Amino acid sequence: MNQSNSLKVHIPQKAAYSYDLVVGNGILENADDFVKKYTNAKNFLIVTNEKVKELYGKYLKIDSAKWFVMKDGERYKNFDTLKKILDFALQQKLQRTDCIIAFGGGVAGDIAGFAASIYMRGTDFIQIPTTLLAQVDSSVGGKVAINHEKGKNLIGAFYQPKAVLADISVLKTLDLRQLKTGLAEVLKYAFIEKSCAADLNYRFYDFLNQNKEEIYNLNPEILSKTVSICCSLKAAIVNQDETEKGLRTILNLGHTFAHAIENLTNYTVYTHGEAVAAGMKMAFNLSLAKGFIDKDYYNKACKLIDDYDLIPSMQNFDKEKFYDKMFLDKKAQNGKIRFVLPSENFKAETTSDVTKEQVFEVL
Ligand SMILES: NC(=O)c1ccc[n+]([C@@H]2O[C@H](COP(=O)([O-])OP(=O)(O)OC[C@H]3O[C@@H](n4cnc5c(N)ncnc54)[C@H](O)[C@@H]3O)[C@@H](O)[C@H]2O)c1
Ligand SMILES: [Zn+2]
Repeated sequence: MNQSNSLKVHIPQKAAYSYDLVVGNGILENADDFVKKYTNAKNFLIVTNEKVKELYGKYLKIDSAKWFVMKDGERYKNFDTLKKILDFALQQKLQRTDCIIAFGGGVAGDIAGFAASIYMRGTDFIQIPTTLLAQVDSSVGGKVAINHEKGKNLIGAFYQPKAVLADISVLKTLDLRQLKTGLAEVLKYAFIEKSCAADLNYRFYDFLNQNKEEIYNLNPEILSKTVSICCSLKAAIVNQDETEKGLRTILNLGHTFAHAIENLTNYTVYTHGEAVAAGMKMAFNLSLAKGFIDKDYYNKACKLIDDYDLIPSMQNFDKEKFYDKMFLDKKAQNGKIRFVLPSENFKAETTSDVTKEQVFEVL
């Protein structure tokens, strides 16, 4: 294998769910050895989409693998595709002791993982994420789901993979907008780093501040390090709170605002990351207004978001409608919107103690 970093995600209550997460440059070609290290499966079902199969299918050589190639797009993360995957698995006589592999972005990861969680009450599952967003976010932590007409990710499960293999060399074919959507989540980790675990100290803000050019140039060493740091921060959180009863909510920094932006524009105008980057700035504005953070940290944070150039020009939203949409967010509880807000340097906390007037101020 080429240079690679291995780190273990360990979920304490469920020792069996401890798994390896391997990040490296050009490691896709060793996927056969990799998957066989983590599962005793005899047969494999690879779930991917047309585009990823076309670009990288030839590098993923796994003996006795069957391919399910779905159409490309978030709108196919639905019941219909799920049924097709399950039908195909049955037709191919996939056993409970076999393994489903997700090969693609977050869409393939979420739907393949959900299929694995219910097929014969659960088969082994391995993630091979191919977008930056999937490598730093959706492939880690075990949330798997499909969309419903009533909303995104409403039908799903917590189902941890046996292993995750992230090859950063595939990121070179992402278009700039897709790279940026992943980078919004990357920056998010810098702003929550100090809340993740006491023993982790990457000084991720400084790292991102110093390495913007290298990241945008896809420098393999810097990119591997970036993905590894994000994964270990997310793993640290998931280790403490797998099912989002507390700490895990801080991963939603910027997301309450982002979901309103996405929802108001029918998920068609801005990418998720663009909405998250804009949402993080709103969260920083709100935090500053509430006196949670000082102006120095506020300026530093906004500067990083601006330097990475993650937010396109945004339309003016009707404030009442925006506020209403925030109630639809899954984090609204008992009629109160729950905000994840920066609380001090590189830390975030959840609070409902925000008035409508204060929200209006930052929109
Ligand atoms: N489970 C979780 O914890 C979690 C977290 C965040 C997001 N998600 C989910 O992830 C999904 C979004 O993920 P996404 O942004 O990866 O979307 P995606 O899977 O649709 O991928 C984005 C686009 O990139 C293409 N692509 C994939 N790999 C490529 C490559 N190497 N080169 C060029 N193009 C490539 C895809 O074909 C697609 O067109 C959403 O459904 C969201 O709900 C889940
Ligand atoms: Zn997100």
